[in-house]
Amino acid sequence: MTILGVEDVVSGYGSMEVLHGLSLKVEEGQVVCLLGPNGAGKTTLLRTIFGILRPWKGKIYFKGEDISGFPPERLVRMGMAYVPQEYNIFPSLTVQENLEMGAFIREDDIGPRMEEVYELFPDLADRRKSRAGELSGGMRQMLAIGRALMLNPELLLLDEISTGLAPFLVDAIFERIEQLNEQGVTVFLVEQNAPKALQSSDRAYILEGGEKKAEGSAQEIAEDEEIGRLYLGR
Ligand SMILES: Nc1ncnc2c1ncn2[C@@H]1O[C@H](COP(=O)(O)OP(=O)(O)OP(=O)(O)O)[C@@H](O)[C@H]1O
Ligand SMILES: [Mg+2]
Repeated sequence: MTILGVEDVVSGYGSMEVLHGLSLKVEEGQVVCLLGPNGAGKTTLLRTIFGILRPWKGKIYFKGEDISGFPPERLVRMGMAYVPQEYNIFPSLTVQENLEMGAFIREDDIGPRMEEVYELFPDLADRRKSRAGELSGGMRQMLAIGRALMLNPELLLLDEISTGLAPFLVDAIFERIEQLNEQGVTVFLVEQNAPKALQSSDRAYILEGGEKKAEGSAQEIAEDEEIGRLYLGR
């Protein structure tokens, strides 16, 4: 089943068109990555999917429903979660408080879910009373993911969560993503680190200049020398 469908989406800021009619799909249960250079429009696409920007044209479907123009709160309730590229935690709050904020719309007991998130990220459990702003870059990104997981999302949108991290932390983050996916979460991730993202993904899309330049299985994209040379800096 297709969990996310983007059809001929045009979007941008003010009068500046960034996405020029983009179509892609994410199948339920998969990890799909979106790769492309700086300024390609990757973040703009995630913002448009998550309802922070409204598509000028085209449609967005989530679990078969047309969600074009739905606000983020509504999408969160439907099972979508988004980890933005920047400002994705509250630095002055503790780890625990950040996780609580992630569960803001839940009225039931969030304790069990919080323990599951701590199981996935044991380092966070050890630091639950620390201020998020005191954590290392890698731990902050883990916290940002943990926060998004507090509402048991079916689809997780991740924007460059590994950028700027040391290689062993990048590996740790991708291991967690694969683990989450095994638990049934569909993941759509935007990455600069193409080799790593392709290793962990089922499918991949290449975006440049607001247009789709290639798509295929992650393996096909990883092995395509021309794509590597043109878009992935190989
Ligand atoms: N808030 C904004 N207002 C106006 N223009 C913006 C805004 N955010 C991004 N842009 C512009 O939109 C275009 C696409 O930017 P976007 O952030 O989507 O790229 P990206 O692929 O995510 O790049 P990066 O890899 O650097 O994060 C760029 O030309 C950028 O300057
Ligand atoms: Mg971006």
